[in-house]
Amino acid sequence: MPSTGPLALFAILAVLVFSLTNKDLADTLSPQGCRMSYMSPSYVLQDSFNTSWSTLAQRYSLWLYREVGWDAQDPNGLPVLFIPGNAGSSHQVRSIASSASRQYYSSPGQVSSEFLSTGVTALDFYAVEFNEDLSAFHGTTLQSQIEYTTKAVDFILSRYPPQTSLVILGHSMGGIVGTALLPSERVSAILTMSTPHDLPPARFDSRIDDIYAKIRHTLVNDTTPILSLCGGSTDTMIPSESCVQPLQGDGIYRKTIFTSALEGAWTGVGHREMVWCHQVRWRVARALLEMSPQKSMAARKAVLGTWFRDGHEPPPGILGQPNDSSSFELSDRSSYDIIPSGLQLVRKPTGSRVYLLPIPSTTGGSPIKLGVLVGRGTIASIPPQSQHPLNVNIYVCSSSEAGNDFPHCEYLEPSTLKLVPQPISGEPFPRPRVDTDPSSGGVDESDGVVLYETEIMPSRGQWVGVKVQNGKGEGWVVAGFNHKEAITNLIPTTSLLFRNIHTEVEAKGSLRLDVWFPRLLSNALIVYRLTPQFSSTENCAESHLAPLLIHTSNSVESHYYPLTTSGDRHILLHTHIPAPYHSRLIGEAQGLHLIIISSGISSCISQLQGLEISIDWPASLGRWASRYLITTISWTAGISAMLLFLGLGMYDRGAPMPSIAQSTQYYGRILLRFMLPASLLASFLPWPTGFYLGLGGSGLFAPLAPLILLIASGLVIVSWWNLVVLIWMLRPLRRVFVVRKHEGLGVGRSTIASMCIILMMVFLFVPWQVAYLGCWVYQLLTCAGSEPSVATPRPAFVEAYPLLASSGQEDTTGDVSRPGVDERVRTRALNQQDNYRLNCHILLFMTCLVPLAAPVLAVWVRTLITAGLTTPFDGDHFFIGVAPFLVLVDFASWTSAPIFVRRSFEDHISTRWALASVAVVSFLVGGTRPHMIFEAGKISVGILVGVRIGRRYWGGTPWTAS
Ligand SMILES: *[C@@H]1O[C@H](CO)[C@@H](O)[C@H](O)[C@H]1NC(C)=O
Ligand SMILES: *[C@@H]1O[C@H](CO)[C@@H](O)[C@H](O)[C@H]1NC(C)=O
Ligand SMILES: *[C@@H]1O[C@H](CO)[C@@H](O)[C@H](O)[C@H]1NC(C)=O
Repeated sequence: MPSTGPLALFAILAVLVFSLTNKDLADTLSPQGCRMSYMSPSYVLQDSFNTSWSTLAQRYSLWLYREVGWDAQDPNGLPVLFIPGNAGSSHQVRSIASSASRQYYSSPGQVSSEFLSTGVTALDFYAVEFNEDLSAFHGTTLQSQIEYTTKAVDFILSRYPPQTSLVILGHSMGGIVGTALLPSERVSAILTMSTPHDLPPARFDSRIDDIYAKIRHTLVNDTTPILSLCGGSTDTMIPSESCVQPLQGDGIYRKTIFTSALEGAWTGVGHREMVWCHQVRWRVARALLEMSPQKSMAARKAVLGTWFRDGHEPPPGILGQPNDSSSFELSDRSSYDIIPSGLQLVRKPTGSRVYLLPIPSTTGGSPIKLGVLVGRGTIASIPPQSQHPLNVNIYVCSSSEAGNDFPHCEYLEPSTLKLVPQPISGEPFPRPRVDTDPSSGGVDESDGVVLYETEIMPSRGQWVGVKVQNGKGEGWVVAGFNHKEAITNLIPTTSLLFRNIHTEVEAKGSLRLDVWFPRLLSNALIVYRLTPQFSSTENCAESHLAPLLIHTSNSVESHYYPLTTSGDRHILLHTHIPAPYHSRLIGEAQGLHLIIISSGISSCISQLQGLEISIDWPASLGRWASRYLITTISWTAGISAMLLFLGLGMYDRGAPMPSIAQSTQYYGRILLRFMLPASLLASFLPWPTGFYLGLGGSGLFAPLAPLILLIASGLVIVSWWNLVVLIWMLRPLRRVFVVRKHEGLGVGRSTIASMCIILMMVFLFVPWQVAYLGCWVYQLLTCAGSEPSVATPRPAFVEAYPLLASSGQEDTTGDVSRPGVDERVRTRALNQQDNYRLNCHILLFMTCLVPLAAPVLAVWVRTLITAGLTTPFDGDHFFIGVAPFLVLVDFASWTSAPIFVRRSFEDHISTRWALASVAVVSFLVGGTRPHMIFEAGKISVGILVGVRIGRRYWGGTPWTAS
């Protein structure tokens, strides 16, 4: 079993490995190809939105964006409100606002012909400025932002005709502020970007949980359309699984779009880049323009459905309908060609023509799959924004009943109609941005190939009619029936642990090939490495669609990868759902489902021979790191509480208080031996979402529990080493701060007075977290100031150390070293040593709690700088919470009597079990509710102080044991 040294080294090493693997993860998993956006910004302060509207107006401000040279000086359209996120700025509105102006006006003052007589008006972009407040860490700050924004909506709408409503645009935590405004008839739709909808990113404040719970409750019945745009693994600030909207009620528009699948973007987008990435911002601006004047919910949903599509659903309404007649008769023999079945390619079509493909008969009349690809053109109205004239519509045709020879054609509805990217062979995909070239990076608005798929019963007709119109001698059309069976490989995940597997693939002559690994686990914690294998490594020439791999892992997430013959060919397959701590409501897909699309006739696809698949360990480890960081921090707090619990248990039995070295050694040697297997077994239990590892009993990841336990244990030891160094450095200063020890006199008047002042300050304006940090420093000084060791003989440590008590019942019969008796026997020096060691345990425990309080501290300091002391910090002034710590560290600093004296009733249930509950809380809910550990810590210290120090603090007589 690992002892303390190796354990600590292991933890340091693990932290190093995990941070290294996590560092470049965004670039390797999902590179970004975004164009830069340019604008001429100006911001007009809305100073009539002052304190007569909201008292928060002193702290925050409201701005109106105006594109210089394009927008009129005054508001002249419909309002949109932008809400920035954690540490965000109102200026982040500029890319989207600028794009809206430049799309609406074709030149300054000239409305674009597209929008003339459509009812679309210009947009007035307002943005709230929160002075880069850290809203993700602090519920009260978030609540202030919500209150201010509510008033801002009232103010903005007061300047527009009655019945006007506005669209909310929220970035990151701003999206939470936006959804918290609901229910409201003043908000017509909400568009969020990189917003953590499902789980707050920092979970150190219970009030953030409350806000989330309230939003969740509201959204059950609220019908306001909400669209969530997520950047995928490129977003390193929030794990994108939190960005997925949890609820999708009937008929309520709650869509989540990953930019990796967003048509016309097909790139991962980083957290901050989301607001300026050109491929995203112009769509957002366009959707806002078209959505704002819409009065009905259905029309607003249709606009969102038009501009934000990821191909997971059939196109909405008009987009999927032929933009031509829905049926026609081919009465002129010269207007159509009957072409043989199989894949057919029309290159550079000119004019208009109908191509009839005979529908092959199938065994038993089962449906047959049809696929059509169109390059540089549209099918029906997909894509909605295209500069290509070529238009294709698909029909099913049969000889008309009238008996004449003229085929009669009916519109054939698609099952899939979407735009897929067309990577340039030999280039990375998406194309990275080159700093010197403003128009580089990712795809262009007119890029992409339209993919049409449907299943057709052979009985429906004789031919499929592909109606090509408006050919101007460019573009191409490929159509054909797909006879290929899906390739299924039943390899289980466990066999991938040790080796790679190879699947043969033959996709020539087919538009689409499905490859399915039904037994491979699909989870955010696992990344697969897939390498296509080609017969030749030459760069193959490709004029149409080169082989493209589509990985659809669930109902909201798809990724596209080119299968290239040259260069670095491996692909990292990853997903965000299911993920730890997230509910699995949304289409949990089993297995790994891959689709290879190509124009089927190129040389590239005929060279494809197989796929090799393995687990990519570095990327997987990197993903574990970001998902279990909070859990690990929480577990260290639990382990430090256990050390204090163990030490007290030993002390209660009359043995001397063990030193930290002894406690950790005992923990590492004996206790871990039980805890490691127990933690492993516990992972198999069907925990509810949010508990323990958040995996609900998935066996494959069970080893994560002992791993995290080992790392957390090591980190506690490392923390102690750091404290030893700190104590050692502070020791020379001890003359300055050391408090004279005394016994039984009780606390001095001056101390009572200063404590009252501290509690008053906490009550009035300092958050308790500051007082807690003060307590921690005080305890550190106490440890540095006291004498660590004495030369008194004492009982051997190991023999006296009892086996871990398995219940609160302790054997008291004949135990001569019970505290009450002991106290009289023990020398003062032994007391001093016990106190020192107990103080060290308390210090370590308090240290491991510091990370849970630190975020709010940071917010407070930050708010102090930007808004001054006047800012209310409601809810953090509950001074009773910190009072036990104050009493404890103060008492510990001056008493020479034992700090803790066990009471007689503790024979039945010892109060130290309160500490065990801290450990239990941290292990069970540390991953999602770390703030509960602090609550449990406060309560348990409160109990210990109340019972074991109690009135001795005021100089009351010590209790004698029964
Ligand atoms: C707020 O602004 C309005 C309009 O500009 C003004 O009439 C009012 O006096 C202002 N209130 C305060 C408290 O400054
Ligand atoms: C939502 O509506 C249903 C049916 O109308 C009702 O039973 C339920 O209580 C509502 N829930 C909330 C949170 O308002
Ligand atoms: C259909 O769309 C194409 C290309 O967008 C266009 O050229 C054509 O005129 C449209 N046809 C009709 C009937 O609107």
